[in-house]
Parts: sequence; C-alpha cells; structure tokens
Amino acid sequence: MSKKSEKKVLLSGMQPSGALHLGNYEGALRNWVELQNTGDYEMFNCIVDWHALTSGFDETDKLVPRIYEMAADYIAAGLDPAKTTIFVQSHVKEHAELHLLLSMIVPIPWLERVPSYKDKTESLGLDSYGFLGYPILQTADIIIYRADVVPVGKDQLSHLELAREIVRRFHFLYGEVFPEPEALVTKFQILPGTDGKKMSKSYGNFIALGDGPDEIKKKVMSMFTDETKIHKTDRGHPDKCPVNIYRTIYDPEWTQKIADFCAAGDDSIGCVKCKKNLIRGLVDYFADFRARREELLADPAQIDNYLKDGAERARQRASETMVLVRKAIKMYKPEM
Ligand code: AMP
Ligand code: TRP
Repeated sequence: MSKKSEKKVLLSGMQPSGALHLGNYEGALRNWVELQNTGDYEMFNCIVDWHALTSGFDETDKLVPRIYEMAADYIAAGLDPAKTTIFVQSHVKEHAELHLLLSMIVPIPWLERVPSYKDKTESLGLDSYGFLGYPILQTADIIIYRADVVPVGKDQLSHLELAREIVRRFHFLYGEVFPEPEALVTKFQILPGTDGKKMSKSYGNFIALGDGPDEIKKKVMSMFTDETKIHKTDRGHPDKCPVNIYRTIYDPEWTQKIADFCAAGDDSIGCVKCKKNLIRGLVDYFADFRARREELLADPAQIDNYLKDGAERARQRASETMVLVRKAIKMYKPEM
C-alpha cells in the first residue's frame, strides 16, 4: 500500500452563506490549517453550496460571489490547494446520488429529532423536504470520501452521530463499505460578537476576516465591554469582556497584568485604550491575510482553476466509492 493511502482521510465543510468571521476562523478554519500542516491526513474540504440552498433557496444571486469569497478566505488563511482538496459540493454529483440512496434507508423520525431541525423549523419556518434531509446530505459528503475523521464544533455532534447511525444501518442491510466517521471535536470557545452574543453571520455582529482597517475600527469601537464597568475605576470582569477575549488572541501586547488592572478598577487602563490596542492587533494580525485574499479575488480565474482541480480529485475518490455502494446495493451493472 502506498504511504498516501495509509493516511487517515479527513473531510470538513462549511456553507457559503456569508463572509467568514473571527468565530469561524477560531472555531474551524485555524484548526483545519493546523491539521493540514501536520501532514497526517488526506484532506478534503467541501464548500457545501447545496446545503446553503436548504435555507437560502430564495437568495441564490449571492451564491456565486460567496463561493469565491469562501475559497479566497480558505486559501488566504493557509489551506493549500496542493495539500487539501478544496472543492464545491455541487461539482461532485456523486454526493447527490449517495444522498438519494441513503434517503431510502433513513427513517423520517431520525431526521425529525435532530436538534438543528427542530430549532430552525421553529425559528426560521423551514419545512422543505430538502431541509429535513440536510443531515443525510451531510452524511453523504462525509462517507463518499470514506472519511475517518471530521473536525467539527460541538454544534455538529448530533449530525455526526446520525451519520454513524446511517452507516451502521447501511452496513446491516448491504454489507461493510465505509469507516464509521469520528468527530474530531475542536477545543474552542464560542467567541462573542460585537454585541456580546455569539458571533454569527445571521446576527450582524461579526468582524469578517476580510474587513479592512476602517471596518475593524468601526466595529471594535462599537463593541460591548463589561456592562458593569461604567467608570474607569469600576472593577471589570475581563474574562467576560469581548474586547479582552479578543485581545488575548490578537494583541501581542496583551498581558495578564492588563486584565488584573481592569479587574482591580485601576484607572491606568480604560476600555477605550483596550479597544485601540485590539484594533491595532487585528489590523496587523490579518494584514497578510487581507493582501492575499484581495490578490485572489482580483483573479477569479485562478480560484476557478483551484476549484476545478479540487473537484476532479474529489470526483475520483467519490466515484470509486459509488462503485462499491452500487455493488453493495446490487444495482444494475455498477461499473457501466
Ligand atoms: P456557521 O457560521 O454556523 O456556518 O459555522 C461554521 C463553523 O464555524 C461552526 O461549526 C463552528 O465550528 C465555527 N463557529 C461559528 N461561529 C462561531 C463562534 N461565534 N465562535 C466559535 N466558533 C464559531
Ligand atoms: N452542517 C455543517 C455546518 O453547518 C456544514 C457541513 C455540511 C459539513 N456537510 C459537512 C461539515 C460535512 C462537516 C462535514 O457547519
């Protein structure tokens, strides 16, 4: 067996549903880049545009620009198309075929009890057949590469558990084809947005990775700090203050002493000074990223080439899997 095929296969994915923000970077992307750089995995990264349609079917004019932005964000952040197969889900039609076949063996109650289904049918009024089948499509994304591991945040664990259940049912009915994919849970904290709630595309409280210095300044200046610290001399709670949380990550000048001063209500450090330091930190930290991102977005043909090449590599493995699947199910002439 060649060395390459001994590596564990890792599949990750994100919906192209808007600009990537600091939460996405710390909660997912940074980790993917680190996993890639260990050299321990054969990496696939899927831009899941069909999944984006399950909720965004009525805003398809934004889909293409978002895919370009997502690919640029990934590459600028350090995913290397030579090391990680980066591709768009809808370019590998085998995902749809496997989704269809799996849909025959998944009981509807399994889907109805997935927490994200319950939440979103209530909060967003989503009730389509495609939305109900979201986790089946996600399972297809994973197992079509016979992936061993899937790096995800805690919010995705119920989807992973369902994927494993679907694999077990497939094996019970048709025989063994796939590894049972394991979640590689990223140890990250949920990062707050500028309003102190979870940073999210849908709350309009995010700092995007592509934001320039002016936007960073505007957003950080509007950021909530510790609500109970009104005067410089009030005792602060730095571990709950969004500005402090981000300074610990992005400001090289940050020291525990600063947090201690804040907690003690020492007036040598106020919230405005803290914000200015964070602005400087963020602007510098993402300067190379922004330059690379702009360079990529100015040359969409280069992004097309990366994604085309990625889809070809992905299709290769996905079509091998589909031959095994069709054989296992005993379809008509699986290799024709
Ligand atoms: P989403 O923006 O919901 O499509 O999120 C994609 C992934 O980014 C999630 O599964 C998380 O791993 C990560 N993520 C999103 N928002 C945050 C946040 N506020 N803090 C940390 N990680 C996040
Ligand atoms: N459901 C995932 C999310 O919202 C996106 C996703 C789709 C995914 N297919 C996947 C994640 C396969 C990991 C593996 O973040």
